[in-house]
Amino acid sequence: MDKVIIEKLVQEARNVMKNSYSPYSKFPVGCAILTQDDRIYTGVNVENVSFGATNCAERSAIFTAVSDGERPGFIKAIAVAGDTESYLPPCSICRQVLVEMANPQTPVYLTRHDQQILETSVGELVPLAFEKMEM
Ligand code: THU
Repeated sequence: MDKVIIEKLVQEARNVMKNSYSPYSKFPVGCAILTQDDRIYTGVNVENVSFGATNCAERSAIFTAVSDGERPGFIKAIAVAGDTESYLPPCSICRQVLVEMANPQTPVYLTRHDQQILETSVGELVPLAFEKMEM
């Protein structure tokens, strides 16, 4: 993927972190998703006093896109940003949602506080994914 596009996607993920609602963990996360037709959706983590009702940045972005009419396979690339020492990867619930809405080859760009970028993929993050209900 074009380096300029990757950097723009990562920048969008970093920029949206300011909108994170994370008063409990104080751990802001931002996400930016590039669609197959080259539009960008962003999302942040939205926490709740019940903790369990918290939504991660990745799912916020994905669910916004789906609410807008996007459907499985719409994700061309995804970037996740946090002010972390090490690269911030999506949690396992978000990985399962990615399996449904992206492809194993879809690039996932992880970042950390010093702005370095690590490229992985949905297939690498979720080997042996549960994808079909076969009986
Ligand atoms: N979080 C995300 O939004 N995305 C991730 O990839 C990991 C965790 C959020 C959930 C919670 O609001 C906070 O980070 C601490 O776990």
